[in-house]
Amino acid sequence: MEPGKLSTSIDAAVPTAARMYDHYLGGKDNYASDRAACEELDKVVPSTRALAVNNRRFLQRAVRTLAGEYGIRQFLDHGSGLPTQNNVHQVAQDIDPESRVIYVDNDPMVLVHGRALLDQNDRTAVIHADMRDTDGIFDHPDTKRLIDFSQPVAVLFNSVFHCIPDSDTDGPLAVARRVRERLAPGSFMLMCQLVSEDPEVRKFVTEFMDQATQGHWGRVRQEKDVEEYFEGLEILEPGLVEVSTWRPDNEVAPRQQTQEWIEFGGIGRLPR
Ligand SMILES: C[S@@+](CC[C@H](N)C(=O)[O-])C[C@H]1O[C@@H](n2cnc3c(N)ncnc32)[C@H](O)[C@@H]1O
Repeated sequence: MEPGKLSTSIDAAVPTAARMYDHYLGGKDNYASDRAACEELDKVVPSTRALAVNNRRFLQRAVRTLAGEYGIRQFLDHGSGLPTQNNVHQVAQDIDPESRVIYVDNDPMVLVHGRALLDQNDRTAVIHADMRDTDGIFDHPDTKRLIDFSQPVAVLFNSVFHCIPDSDTDGPLAVARRVRERLAPGSFMLMCQLVSEDPEVRKFVTEFMDQATQGHWGRVRQEKDVEEYFEGLEILEPGLVEVSTWRPDNEVAPRQQTQEWIEFGGIGRLPR
């Protein structure tokens, strides 16, 4: 899909990344088509549920770290997904109730459920937009109301860049560069995406998801592609890693590492 062409109606027959991810996380905001697609995917990449859970926990640890250790109070979450437990605003506002969060997603279902959840929270808003539409997102009235871009912000691209195809103007690298230019020194960018070093897995999942979602998909990439997104940023410890190993809460707790494909990334800070 070209950036900017937003679907406003929910089509229960065509799976979406947001609803499949919701199913993997044990949510209820998905349809039979989403569950069937997950079942098909599991035949080739059976660790996908563990991957989704690891990914969501990483996001929660990362937000807690950004708010708790680095004092970040403003978050711009691209491709935020359907609300689940411990959403970004809940983690951030647990540390400081004044924290402000803008959620961005192009799935109309996210908009409906997000707005219902956030109705009572005037420090949080959900915007229906394509994550590649940087101007539209940064200049949106809700973003302007809640985020002060003269101050450090954490911009999140958690498990989303595999949803957009390569393009010199609107691929992940171009979007990361464009967003970076709008941020104050000392801001943070969290980026991770699905990668595999196995060419067969990359080919299968990319083709499967492209077909299942009727073209609303990008591609599974490699670790070296993700490294490029962080050019010029100071990468926080422990670097760019499989996300379940990013500052785990408990070193000795057994974590289910996925094999066929992983979420790979980390957090970078703009020079101060
Ligand atoms: C795998 S989910 C990740 C959700 C959340 N960031 C997390 O990590 O828990 C990917 C999300 O990106 C959204 N998405 C995909 N393509 C998008 C686009 N071009 N613009 C905005 N959101 C997009 C999907 O609707 C979905 O909610």
